[in-house]
Amino acid sequence: MQDSISPVLWQPLLATKHLGRAVNHCEHTLSSTNTVLKDMARQGAPHGSVCLCECQTSGRGRLDRQWSSPDGQGVWISVLLRPRLSPEQLPLITFCTAMAMAQAIRDCCGVDARIKWPNDLVLQGRKVCGILLEMVITPEGIAVIAGTGLNVHHGAYPPELADRAIALDELCTPPQRAKIIASYLCALEKAIEALEQDGFPGIETDYRLQSCTLGSQVHVLATDSSFTGIAEAIDESGALLVRMQDGQLRRVLAGDVSVRGVMGYV
Ligand code: BTN
Repeated sequence: MQDSISPVLWQPLLATKHLGRAVNHCEHTLSSTNTVLKDMARQGAPHGSVCLCECQTSGRGRLDRQWSSPDGQGVWISVLLRPRLSPEQLPLITFCTAMAMAQAIRDCCGVDARIKWPNDLVLQGRKVCGILLEMVITPEGIAVIAGTGLNVHHGAYPPELADRAIALDELCTPPQRAKIIASYLCALEKAIEALEQDGFPGIETDYRLQSCTLGSQVHVLATDSSFTGIAEAIDESGALLVRMQDGQLRRVLAGDVSVRGVMGYV
């Protein structure tokens, strides 16, 4: 019970209107919280529903990668959103999710995670959290599943990833996961409200301040090409604008690329 992820522990800490107040599905073991929540969305689960577990047997990452999610070592959580946004704006929820988890890490650990475009949170140059945003068509309209994997204990990732991954307990006393969850849901609701109200400009300044990609030299790896340039900005659709050495600006979509710093992962 000491570090339980049960809603019984985090619901009383919530200061949200919707997130965490609808259907909360919490089990010890699930295939993938994103997969389970997608099914719940198809069956009509409302905005703000949450799915989380101690351990995933088929945790999924971006670009069809597996996501290691061993028992009790992290926060493996997905949130169902039915936001008042146009379909073109939906990918921007990735940024809200990253900003919200960075806020939760600051609140609970006092350390500053930075956002690596499009969807990683990094601490000391290593990945502490990944985000997988998925859409699903439901009778009620498009639902967004925002899945987040946060490494809390250093057993969260395989040893071969040790030079690229980090867990919170490597930098601070491991926080109670219930506190992280409540803080994350509160920050996510606020960020989504800002996006609904003002569009991208509503979150742009905050995002820019927390980004470790903007202003840096990046190496973009796509399936059929790769190039290097300076990450200059993010546009209204969430695409990264990279200035090439010849002065041209290239628009990079998150869907099928890896972005690395020229010196390594960040
Ligand atoms: C990535 O960095 O590639 C994204 C990783 C996302 C992992 C989380 S863990 C909770 C949710 N369920 C999943 O199967 N994936 C996401």
